Amino acid sequence: MQSLQEKASEWSGVAAGDAFAIDDGNVFQVLGGTTQPFVDLSTNFYTRVYEDEEEWFRQIFAGSKKEDAIRNQYEFLVQRMGGPQLFSQRRGHPALIARHRPFPVTHQAAERWLHHMQQAVDTTESIDADTKIKMMNFFKHTAYFLVAGNEMTRQGHGTSCKCKHGTSKPAE
Ligand code: HEM
Repeated sequence: MQSLQEKASEWSGVAAGDAFAIDDGNVFQVLGGTTQPFVDLSTNFYTRVYEDEEEWFRQIFAGSKKEDAIRNQYEFLVQRMGGPQLFSQRRGHPALIARHRPFPVTHQAAERWLHHMQQAVDTTESIDADTKIKMMNFFKHTAYFLVAGNEMTRQGHGTSCKCKHGTSKPAE
């Protein structure tokens, strides 16, 4: 049986090595060591999501306030990309598959999510070109990892995975 990682690589077209190139250096430091570029990116991204003309996609986020969604995402990204553990201090372990369990994380939803994220990354000036590529590879792989996890949990299996989408040093 294919692992979640293998499915994520196959469906996203991004090899695991490229997805986790964000760990080759410290992205948080490269971007200046402040949360601002991450706040910029998440605000840009969720502004697009909450204004999406596709109602089916907008609806997935209807249960959350935009400000909360922005904070949840940028705190996670700061933490995952080498900065302070802001997300875990407030929300606990990222547990991305479990946290997405209430939502229909389908292939179509991943494509739409990535469409908005690509546009957000492209138009966030506080992120340099090399980091943009690394971030998008991580986002593509993680989005399809979540699709694979969503299919798995809906088939009634558990959610544990020794992978590096949520933390760079996953629990054994
Ligand atoms: C939260 C959907 C991909 C990381 C959420 C929420 C929704 C959602 C509806 C709740 C908003 C909130 O209250 O924070 C989706 C869909 C995706 C997707 C449809 C398509 C594949 C991703 C990816 C990442 C990610 C690729 C990481 C790179 C997060 C995080 C939260 C979140 C960290 C906050 C969780 C929390 O604080 O409880 N997502 N997401 N998501 N998502 Fe996603």
